[in-house]
Amino acid sequence: MKIKLTAVAVFIGIFFASAQEKPVYLNVDKPIEERVEDALKRMTLEEKIAVIHAQSKFSSAGVPRLGIPENWATDGPHGIRAEVFWDEWNIAGWTNDSCIAFPALTCLAATWNTDMAALYGKSIGEEARYRNKNILLGPGVNIYRTPLNGRNFEYMGEDPCLASKMVVPYIKGVQENGVAACVKHFALNNQETDRYKVNVNIDDRALNEIYLPAFKAAVKEGDVWAVMGAYNKYMGEQASHNKVLLNDILKKEWQFDGVVISDWDGTHDTKQAIHNGLDMEFGTWRKEMETAPKPYNLYYLANPYYELIKKGEVGTEELDDKVRRVLRLVFRTNMAKDRPFGSFGSPEHSQAARKIAEEGIVLLKNKKSTLPISLYKKKKRNILVVGENAVKRLTVGGGSSSLKAKYEISPFDGIKKRAGSLANVTYAAGYKSPAVKEQDVRDAKEPEKETIDLKALRNEAVRAAQKADMVVFVGGLNKNSGQDCEDSDRANITLPYEQDLLIKELLKANKNTVVVIISGNAVAMPWADDAPAIVEAWYNGSEAGNALAGVLFGDVNPSGKLPFTFFKQLKDFSAHAMGEYPGNGTNVSYRESVFVGYRWANRMRIKPLFGFGHGLSYTTFKYSAARVDKKTISANDSVTVSVKVKNTGYRAGQEVVQLYINDVVSAIPRPRQELKGFQKIYLKVGEEKTLSFVINKDDLSYYNEKHGKWIVERGEFEALFGSSSEDIREKVSFKLK
Ligand code: GLC
Repeated sequence: MKIKLTAVAVFIGIFFASAQEKPVYLNVDKPIEERVEDALKRMTLEEKIAVIHAQSKFSSAGVPRLGIPENWATDGPHGIRAEVFWDEWNIAGWTNDSCIAFPALTCLAATWNTDMAALYGKSIGEEARYRNKNILLGPGVNIYRTPLNGRNFEYMGEDPCLASKMVVPYIKGVQENGVAACVKHFALNNQETDRYKVNVNIDDRALNEIYLPAFKAAVKEGDVWAVMGAYNKYMGEQASHNKVLLNDILKKEWQFDGVVISDWDGTHDTKQAIHNGLDMEFGTWRKEMETAPKPYNLYYLANPYYELIKKGEVGTEELDDKVRRVLRLVFRTNMAKDRPFGSFGSPEHSQAARKIAEEGIVLLKNKKSTLPISLYKKKKRNILVVGENAVKRLTVGGGSSSLKAKYEISPFDGIKKRAGSLANVTYAAGYKSPAVKEQDVRDAKEPEKETIDLKALRNEAVRAAQKADMVVFVGGLNKNSGQDCEDSDRANITLPYEQDLLIKELLKANKNTVVVIISGNAVAMPWADDAPAIVEAWYNGSEAGNALAGVLFGDVNPSGKLPFTFFKQLKDFSAHAMGEYPGNGTNVSYRESVFVGYRWANRMRIKPLFGFGHGLSYTTFKYSAARVDKKTISANDSVTVSVKVKNTGYRAGQEVVQLYINDVVSAIPRPRQELKGFQKIYLKVGEEKTLSFVINKDDLSYYNEKHGKWIVERGEFEALFGSSSEDIREKVSFKLK
């Protein structure tokens, strides 16, 4: 009897224990793959179809029956977009969604500081987490092929090595918050003109050497959990469901195990979406959806897919793969163990935004130490600030990266605050842009046409300039369509609103004029020779004015370097010299191949206005004693090259030491310089440091199209140490046996 009782007791115990035992998919201590399989087998066909397409503008369904939450995506790469109405682009008017606006990613790239990328990712990830978004639709890493691309300000420049090294810490920082980064736009989305349909023709070498590396780094080193398919086509197929890009390269070769999300309305065909690697369909829009009771059921991966399965025309294998990826996303984010809780609009995020901006602002020219501005105790200085960009809100507009910022310190605010009682700071517009209807605002009215008398504005500013001790001009581009804005490209690289004429007049009226350009792209500077000081200040978000003032008044020693080349004229850019831009509406051919930016400048011996990697400091740096540890290496060896850098000026500062490789004799035309590494170092006055870089065969290889793989050739290589691509200070050579 006793034994029976015990047996019964044990059975009851096990029963309750197992009844207590959570289902595997709900158990955060179980390995993700086990949770995925357990959840998958519990889901119905209808539930599987539901989770792979949107249910609203920015969300996709969860599995309510199983307690699996919805997925909520948010733009953008520079901050967390305001909440919109369920089914609209329009802002919903919440009062708790005003974010910190971080600098544009071009500014982040211009810091050349991976610590800044980590800080950026952590901060923006915390904001997304706090707003309960588990997919951040950023960062963007499309290469600057043409300076006219309206979205370059959202990307990280012209060089694959710089973009690759900067994107990884950003992604890790975001994902440490249990928020998926979604690297975009994969791939070859390098212009906005005809972006929804243009088919990109490109040789395999340029694809692999220039346009894929940042995405590959995002996947292989950044372990990114989501990738956004681009709008354009490649090899005739939409990038959002593209066999070669998504199945062959991303998922097979790179072993990507996350989700591929379509760009909004980037999906065009059910069967291609099923078979060519698309996992989540967002933003689809078709006429019949306007009147459909359940418009989202008309998505390509919704009822049409369901019907094909029901009719037995397709199996459920692809569906299960998509759902596994979606579940993996959920278990990495919303249902992850020990997920942080985020923070929003915090002083820490303001400081992060300011630090990144301070490190990204580029001092392009500074003759006779015009900068930093000195403020004398005894004599008040009259500082005139001229230009619409000194006062204009620049966090709004530009397309999907537009933000409802908690605040935005303008350049004028920053300069006035920093000067305080030590200077008399006044303002003259000098030029004005036409008012435009704010994007994403329901029932927004077209502003009434105003006549802008640029001549009168210019004359007024010039008169004021004649009386000032110094002038700070703040101009450039803005986020209006046709400038730095999504869905349109610029028509040329000339500054709009007659700014060139204004700048020339200001320089004549007062030779102590500093020119500050705010832009996300290169602009022509016909007045550059006459300007004693020029600063590239990017779109720097909430702290823009404080960061700029810090640099102008010398609290900050500028250390930014250009992430792309400023050629003097449009036809000096390879895409416009021999490539093809914007194509014929159906096709565009990247005939310039790998010769983009400084690679083209070197090859054609074109002297740019300001080169890739260029940026001055308020101190000076001397390079010396470049060394290589081995004069000859075999293909599987690595070689260590080093150089000494000394601060030879009068104040502490940071220098970005850039390492370029030159394959002296190569079977195919190679750029004479290819960036393969960089280090940003802080040096006190007189301090000297030795920097070492390890070079391996990957750094020396090129992509050989015939063999479809990377090849390294025997022969002599040079390691070039530069303060910019145009300013090589030291070099060493070694031989590959
Ligand atoms: C836009 C953009 C993409 C953005 C998405 C959602 O068209 O191409 O970058 O994240 O749609 O707004």
